[in-house]
Amino acid sequence: MKVNKHLSVKYLFDTVGFKYFKLKIYVYFIDGVLIDTGPAVRRRKFLPVFRDWNPNVCAITHLHDDHAGLASDLEKKFNIPIYLHHSSVKEASQEAIVLPYRRLFWGHRRGFHAQPFNKTIETTNNTFDIIETPGHRNDHIMLHEKNRGWLFTGDLYVAPKQRYAFIDDDISQHITSLEKVLKLDFDTIFCSHAGVKTESKNLVRQKLDFFYDVRENVRKYRKMGMNYKEISKILFPKRGPVWFISAGDWSGYHIVKTIDPD
Ligand SMILES: [Fe+2]
Repeated sequence: MKVNKHLSVKYLFDTVGFKYFKLKIYVYFIDGVLIDTGPAVRRRKFLPVFRDWNPNVCAITHLHDDHAGLASDLEKKFNIPIYLHHSSVKEASQEAIVLPYRRLFWGHRRGFHAQPFNKTIETTNNTFDIIETPGHRNDHIMLHEKNRGWLFTGDLYVAPKQRYAFIDDDISQHITSLEKVLKLDFDTIFCSHAGVKTESKNLVRQKLDFFYDVRENVRKYRKMGMNYKEISKILFPKRGPVWFISAGDWSGYHIVKTIDPD
């Protein structure tokens, strides 16, 4: 684990996973606001850093276990408000029921009491607008500091090309969210898995163009009478370690199926 800083934004960085598949995790802290918590498997490493940062509030970008895994610890040990999209507040109060591989990767997310986001989070030096960006998950939000050109993007970006999606991803919604984001003023993104990227509008544009490309191909093959399974074999032929470890829970098929629904 490393702790670092970009301007006034502190962050920690670590990797989780197995020999053949590792995932980078970034957790950000700015002006009293902790953005996501990281996964429960990093409890012993991350909590001392959080103690040092001493947050006043925690903002969860979406209720995946690698983003909200330590929210219950924050609630108990720091007694601070934890904000989450209103649609997931009830689900958050219960322990996460996830597939075994996800639990091995990220640990066990316990239930916690979340509050629905207001439109903004105001701190001494910053105003963060809460931008709804569903797609990766229904409850996905980002934090936008427009005066500084900062976007805390959760899992909206991750990489310019995406070859896997979860069963609960909705790529057509993700496309709409990327289009919405590109209309905002920003320069730097703070991504939960790719880290800090400056001059980043072009990267977000690349991701959107990649999805446009996939969508065009899906439309073309569907007109030729192919089903989603056949199309995903053409567009995403490689089954990497992620596919095997997750037994297909993380798969190109979910991109093909949700990118242009009927
Ligand atoms: Fe996620």
